[in-house]
Amino acid sequence: MAVLNVNIDHVATVRQARLTDEPDPVWAAAECELAGANGITVHLRQDRRHICDRDVEILKETVACKLNLEMCMAEEIVKIAERLRPEQVTLVPEKRAELTTEGGLDCAKNNKRLVEVVKRMHAKGILVSTFIAPQAEQIEASAEARCDAIELHTGMYANAKGEKEVMKRLAELEAGKDLGIKKKLVVHAGHGLTYRNIGPVARIAGLCEFNIGHSIVARSVFVGIREATAEMIRLIEKFSRGG
Ligand code: PXP
Repeated sequence: MAVLNVNIDHVATVRQARLTDEPDPVWAAAECELAGANGITVHLRQDRRHICDRDVEILKETVACKLNLEMCMAEEIVKIAERLRPEQVTLVPEKRAELTTEGGLDCAKNNKRLVEVVKRMHAKGILVSTFIAPQAEQIEASAEARCDAIELHTGMYANAKGEKEVMKRLAELEAGKDLGIKKKLVVHAGHGLTYRNIGPVARIAGLCEFNIGHSIVARSVFVGIREATAEMIRLIEKFSRGG
C-alpha cells in the first residue's frame, strides 16, 4: 500500500509572504503526523524562499515519522544534510528563477557528482532518492549511482490534456516503476498530484510513496491541514486497493 509524505514548503511560503513567524511549518508537520502521514517533506532551496535552516533543524528534532529533505547537490546544501542527517534526501535540480522544481534531475549528465553525493549520504546513514523523469536512462543512472530509491516525476501526467495523453503519461509511469523495481530501487512518485488526479497514479501497484504538497496546503486553508492530509490518505488507500 502506497503511503503519503506531505510536502509542507507552502506553509512556509505563507509565512515568508510577510517575513513573520506564522504559520509555522513545524506545527504543520505535527498536524500531518497526527493525520497519519508517513513522512514530512521539505525542500531547503539555496535561495531559502520558503523553508529555512531553522525549520529543518527543528523538524529534525520533532518529526517522529520520516523526514525527507528535498535538495539540490550544491555543496552548501549537501553539507547541511550531512550535519542534520534526515532519514532520506531526495535529490532535485534547482533553478533560481523557477516557480517550483521544473524537470527531473539529469542523473546521466550529473553522474560524477551524483555518485559522490550518494556515497556521502550513505556514510551518514541517509537514504537517497532521485527525482527523475520516468525515462530508462535516468532510472538506470540512479541505479548505477547506488541510489536507494527514485521519485518519478508526475508533472507531465498532471499537466496532460485529453485521455490519450493522460494514458500515455500513465503508461510511462508504469513502465518507469517496473524498470525501477527491476533495478532494485524503491519507487516513489510526486509533483502536481491533487485530490482530482491522484486516483489513476495510486492504482499503479508497486509505487511506494507519494510526495504531495501544493494541493494539500491549498485545501488546508479551508479544512485545516490535519483534515486535508487525512482526506488525501483516504484517497490513496482507496485507489491503492483498486477502488
Ligand atoms: N516532489 C518533488 C521532488 C518536488 O520538487 C515537489 C515540489 O516541491 C513535490 C514532489 C510536490 O509537488 P506539489 O507541490 O506539486 O505536490
